[in-house]
Amino acid sequence: ELPLDQLIASLTVDVPDHPEPGIVFRDLTPVFADGDAFRRMVDGLATPGASDPRTAALATRHPGGRPFDVVAGVEARGFLLAAAVALDAGVGVVPVRKAGKLPRERVSAEYTLEYGTATLELHADSVRPGQRVLLVDDVLATGGTLGAAIALVEQLGGVVAGISVVVELAALGGRQLLAPHTVHALWAT
Ligand code: PRP
Ligand code: HPA
Repeated sequence: ELPLDQLIASLTVDVPDHPEPGIVFRDLTPVFADGDAFRRMVDGLATPGASDPRTAALATRHPGGRPFDVVAGVEARGFLLAAAVALDAGVGVVPVRKAGKLPRERVSAEYTLEYGTATLELHADSVRPGQRVLLVDDVLATGGTLGAAIALVEQLGGVVAGISVVVELAALGGRQLLAPHTVHALWAT
């Protein structure tokens, strides 16, 4: 059986010059479409270890139990993964959404894009103080997106218990941006 990182790498399709010239876009849709790869990704994402050395005790304090209370997925591709991880773990799932989508009281966090900024939002009642949140997304690139997601969870008093991604594009420095939180990546390239 192929190691999971090699399986993901073998199913990922590199698309040159998308969405603009000079960028090689890693298209993960064939990885999601493969039943065996999807099953193994969901299993891998659910076991992140502790994302913050300051809260490393969180996982060990619950031996045999779940190290997180809820899974948060980042729009849009993180939704596909987060729901599966949550269902498997027997916990709920909450959406971290692009600005303007959530109808009720919410918190907002701005992050930097290549050109300008964007905003992510989370319903204020999606995370309760002290709740342990597993953050899930497909790709860690610059880290701006997950940085904003962390800020949202922490604004609500939640504890980021883990950050799991399928692919880390290591050259873009996202891991460094998110420190002291640590990222669990199934494939780093
Ligand atoms: C992509 C990807 C991550 C983010 C990573 O989402 O799914 O969420 O970019 O980039 P970063 O680490 O540099 O922030 P995108 O914003 O393209 O949204 P989509 O899922 O709706 O396509
Ligand atoms: N692939 C998929 N999603 C992304 C990428 C990429 O190369 N870069 C930023 N988000």
